[in-house]
Amino acid sequence: MLNARFLTLPKTSALCLRDQVCELISSAIAQDLFPKAEPLPSCRALSGHLGVSRNTVHDAYCRLIDIGLVVSRDRSGYFVDDAVAELGRSSIASKDKKTSIPSPLEHVMAGLLRPSDMAKVDHPNDWSNYPYPFVYNQIDPTWFPIKEWRESMRAAMASSGLVEWSRDAGGADSSNLIKQLQQRLLGYRGINAAPEEILVTSGAQNAISLLATLNAYVGRRVAIEDPCYPEARNAFEVAGNQLACVPVDRFGLIVDKVPADVGLVYTTPSHQFPTTVTMSVKRRLELCERAVRDDFLICEDDYEAEMNFVQKRERPIRALDTSGRTVYVGSLSKSVAPGLRIGYMVAHPDVIREAKAIRRSTMRHPPILLQDAMAHFIASGALDAHLRRMERRYRSRWEIILDALAEHLPDFDQQVSQGGTCVWLTAPKGIDTSILAQRLKQHGVLVDEGAAFYRDPSHGQRKLRIGFTALPRASLRDGIKLIAAEAIRVRA
Ligand SMILES: Cc1ncc(COP(=O)(O)O)c(C=O)c1O
Repeated sequence: MLNARFLTLPKTSALCLRDQVCELISSAIAQDLFPKAEPLPSCRALSGHLGVSRNTVHDAYCRLIDIGLVVSRDRSGYFVDDAVAELGRSSIASKDKKTSIPSPLEHVMAGLLRPSDMAKVDHPNDWSNYPYPFVYNQIDPTWFPIKEWRESMRAAMASSGLVEWSRDAGGADSSNLIKQLQQRLLGYRGINAAPEEILVTSGAQNAISLLATLNAYVGRRVAIEDPCYPEARNAFEVAGNQLACVPVDRFGLIVDKVPADVGLVYTTPSHQFPTTVTMSVKRRLELCERAVRDDFLICEDDYEAEMNFVQKRERPIRALDTSGRTVYVGSLSKSVAPGLRIGYMVAHPDVIREAKAIRRSTMRHPPILLQDAMAHFIASGALDAHLRRMERRYRSRWEIILDALAEHLPDFDQQVSQGGTCVWLTAPKGIDTSILAQRLKQHGVLVDEGAAFYRDPSHGQRKLRIGFTALPRASLRDGIKLIAAEAIRVRA
């Protein structure tokens, strides 16, 4: 018999005791840990060993019998079902074999750029366990309006909506969410859009990737900002586009440097990623003119447009463009939570039609239940209230960070910005931010080195990004002090 010593319950679990015992036994079965043809541990033995009641173990065995993993034999006890035991053994044997099979991609991908090798800004999975995680695109989970979201999910799950979200919607989105986006989020940004001009996406990333696929059919190059959001650069390349890198200055993308042969220009005008610069109105208008003259589309990634702390927001390019060439991309990742995966694209109906067809070929449609819940969340006023709270909280962190930077890192040049969720710094000569970031990690401080944002990583050698949304206010100043102390050591 298997030594019950190997069976232990997790220290914490959201499951009830019966289900924890079920999980324990079923995972031991999946790993083929129980000797063939021998009975499983008795209720008495297992309850004594696990410190749970005999009834709980008995209930767990009954459940495992119900789902067909275990059988009960008269007077002999419980056994792993024969067919399950056989399947388990053959899958373990084939897993062992698989590890010795050479990669089937080795020769076909030799010499090619592999998607898995592309530059990205990676944080350790356990970033939230670090004392000073100056990471980007993560929220403080205590801020998530869980009560309101639960209410929205409950409303969306009401049986009246069941017909809508439980069926295969083909290519369609939730009409409730389209209406809310149209009237509220887009309306607030001064964008007029008809339902046929809106597509809901699985985050802004999905919208960028759909456009990347569409432009690859057109076959013309994509102009991207340099430095740039690396995952946009990757999305365009993965789809097979050739890139043209365009520099950025304190007014945003330098429109004069956009080559004439591009089919699409990708830009982040609200807060340029990663420099945080807001594109001037003059540049926005110049870009619209160029789009008409050279016949290209503009992808306006309006990520985190809400987080402006200094002055009234600039009008989005989509609202200035009278030619219908701007594809506006928005997201609820920064303002609500990235894990919800809700973004949207606003464009000419022809673009939406083709993007929807591409989306259909990859995922049919995003989850309608989530879309309906978000529609309820917006309609109930919960999003507005949440945004007001977030803006206050982010603004106060931003002010602390600016103050701490002025005091502790005065020799780091800081990009002037109107807000956002991070700051962009240039270290003094003699500091390589890759080395600084590595060393800081050992002290529990996570920051983004500049290299990953540039086409030529060496251009980012002295650049550093500090995101301030995932740390409590009380830790911000201490974190900056640690960065300052390490910078002195790196320079020495
Ligand atoms: C500039 C920019 N665009 C798009 C995205 C992707 O956002 P989402 O989480 O909505 O897919 C990110 C994520 O960090 C971003 O920074």
